[in-house]
Amino acid sequence: MKKIAIFISGRGSNMKAIVEQCQSGILSGIAEPVLVFSDHSDAAGLKYASEQGIATASLESKGMKRADYDRLVLEILAAYSPDYIVLAGYMRILSPVLVNAFPKRIINIHPADTTAHQGLHGYEWAWENKLPETKVTVHFVDEGLDTGSIIAQEIVDLHGATSLEDVETRGLAIEHRLYSKTLKELFES
Ligand code: GRF
Repeated sequence: MKKIAIFISGRGSNMKAIVEQCQSGILSGIAEPVLVFSDHSDAAGLKYASEQGIATASLESKGMKRADYDRLVLEILAAYSPDYIVLAGYMRILSPVLVNAFPKRIINIHPADTTAHQGLHGYEWAWENKLPETKVTVHFVDEGLDTGSIIAQEIVDLHGATSLEDVETRGLAIEHRLYSKTLKELFES
């Protein structure tokens, strides 16, 4: 069983999808969420995680240098000894302190093709550019902004999309499936 620490900043719908798959889906017997961590103590997903009996922790980052913050994150993680860190809507760039402590063991999901669009607002970008399709990307995390090597991608069909909400709904449905599927393949390889 791979022990995973899932990092979120808000809603946590990807985290929820992964937890469900660990409990009774394709990640059952393969991965175990040992911690859900957030940089915001009021992140909605934390409540869900603790209701599921998963340990939670949070640490506000205000005024802190990135490396100092990540050193404290590592101290928190030490109590749970995760094999992997799974970023799921975690809105911080990681410092070398964290990246080097988990080489090729930090994964992220990005709501666009990371070679075409990095950073925030991936679905807005697809909607505003009227793209006929976009791609959701699961990738390893390095010190850059969505620059780590790609593990898996899946096309989101945007033909006939009527609103940004529609684009997001289509994309998230794919994210929720793709992330667990990709983690399963990675953990079993
Ligand atoms: C997702 O679109 C994910 O790809 C991006 O941030 C969003 C997080 O949503 N990195 P949620 O918190 O998992 O619902």
